[in-house]
Amino acid sequence: MPTITINGKKIEAPENATILETARENGIFIPTLCHNDGLAPYGGCRLCVVEIALGGKTTVETSCTYPVEEGLVVKTDTERIKRARRVIIGLLLDRSPKPVVIQDLASEYGITERPTRFSIENEHCIRCGLCVRACREIVQARAISFAGMGFERKVTTPFNESSSDCIGCGTCELICPTKVVDMRDLPDAQEHAPGDHESIGPVRNLDNWNTEFKVKVCKECGNPFYPAQPLEKFRQAQNLQPEFFDTCPSCRVTPRVDEELCVGCMGCAVNCPIGAIQMKQKDEEQRATIYREICTGCHYCVDKCVVGAIKLEEQNHV
Ligand code: FES
Repeated sequence: MPTITINGKKIEAPENATILETARENGIFIPTLCHNDGLAPYGGCRLCVVEIALGGKTTVETSCTYPVEEGLVVKTDTERIKRARRVIIGLLLDRSPKPVVIQDLASEYGITERPTRFSIENEHCIRCGLCVRACREIVQARAISFAGMGFERKVTTPFNESSSDCIGCGTCELICPTKVVDMRDLPDAQEHAPGDHESIGPVRNLDNWNTEFKVKVCKECGNPFYPAQPLEKFRQAQNLQPEFFDTCPSCRVTPRVDEELCVGCMGCAVNCPIGAIQMKQKDEEQRATIYREICTGCHYCVDKCVVGAIKLEEQNHV
């Protein structure tokens, strides 16, 4: 294990960890915007910059991407670092003045006036790329990506049209730090039919991606629970009974990981059709974690677990 120093404190860092991970493990706060523990390091926002000294040289680096190494000396809060963060926050505030997360950062770093270099109103997207990476790395759908260059760069679907790869899981909305991704579940949408409006039942709208899904209603409890079209796609891909998704995950038995038995082989994570399982570091071992918010309850992971560590829970509907 490499020994490093952060803010004067000697720390034994885990092999292959980043400075950010090591700092957080040891209760040292470094601000971030584009980092998420479930995603690969990205280094886009640069808010996590720290000063590092190694081999007689001092540089400023992004702590979320910089790996620890023996003898590294890190300072997270020097005047130089605070100045660098103020410049970054100032630029973000200029372009995206309304998101609460940006306003909070600005007041924390004593920025009272919005610079007016870009003069764009109401620009909420800060291009942190969390939605794009989550869609690709967690959901494995690749329904959205960056398009355009420089000032025009934005997150969108291919050709700005409704993407057939979107599964309406809402991960992009959940992970967005500025809440610019707008997902709306309407309990009873209306369709304009000749002479009248026709009810088409519950729908999920993801306006940013020009996508609308009809939502399946649970036959047991009557609650709308997940976009019908991707559910049918999973059902066919996994050769499940036609009625499998007639009930919602709350009315079905749902899988859970027995961490005592899990050997961290990743069989479940690799095979989960919507990427609802990720590997997480627990006590120096990798363990499977099921993201219940996006798990469809298909039970595919139960069949794929070679050591029987994924089990079905008792019915959990209340
Ligand atoms: S959190 Fe490190 S660059 Fe964004």
